[in-house]
Amino acid sequence: MSTFSDPDTVSSYAEMAERNVPALRDLHHMVSILLGERVSSDGRVLVLGAGGGLELRAMARLNSGWSFDGVDPSPQMLDQARAVTHDFAERITLREGYIEDAPDGPFDGATCLLTLHFLSREERARTLREICRRLRPGAPLAIVHHSFANDDAGKDKWLARFAKYISTSEMGEAGNRINVEAMKERLPVLSPEQDVAILHDSGFSQVELFYAALTFRGWVAYRT
Ligand SMILES: C[S@@+](CC[C@H](N)C(=O)[O-])C[C@H]1O[C@@H](n2cnc3c(N)ncnc32)[C@H](O)[C@@H]1O
Repeated sequence: MSTFSDPDTVSSYAEMAERNVPALRDLHHMVSILLGERVSSDGRVLVLGAGGGLELRAMARLNSGWSFDGVDPSPQMLDQARAVTHDFAERITLREGYIEDAPDGPFDGATCLLTLHFLSREERARTLREICRRLRPGAPLAIVHHSFANDDAGKDKWLARFAKYISTSEMGEAGNRINVEAMKERLPVLSPEQDVAILHDSGFSQVELFYAALTFRGWVAYRT
């Protein structure tokens, strides 16, 4: 069973995300502001890895004219997104699948939050190219995920910091441990430099860092 089909993970997703990702609500606010610089008031936004629905809800609240296409391979996470975004349902289309299942657009902006760190380098590059292809020229993409020095020592150091951050969180006891060894082995994390290079190689330019929080980095980039 993948993590995102496990009923406990899915039902506690919002709480877990708030605990694990520093300033998650502020992050959504920032993403919305950055996209809003170029997405018009009636713009169309692609949300890849839309399961859970948190960024959809935040962007829909702040931008009453935007419509959204959310894509995610986990039906359980999409159900969660449906529930969380209930108030904005008429502006949100959710699809089960991967980037190739997304409509062709063209989209005025896109996000991919807390998702790309699960993808191998090749799959990430392919996914980013496919997002790029669906954007209008000049349209923004915001991405956020784990990104840190990925040699052995770097992984040990940063994952230990992440584990400590979580285990000392004030946000409750439930499940506040991570399996550092499993993360080290399974998460195909890239360094910030590699992440930026992949964005450039996938058709994006003007790559700007807007979020750096412990193990997480976020960039906004624009379709060339
Ligand atoms: C940690 S959750 C992030 C959800 C949401 N973007 C957020 O920020 O709260 C990761 C999501 O990525 C989805 N996912 C995994 N692999 C994917 C892929 N190749 N393409 C799109 N989504 C993927 C999972 O099903 C899961 O819903």
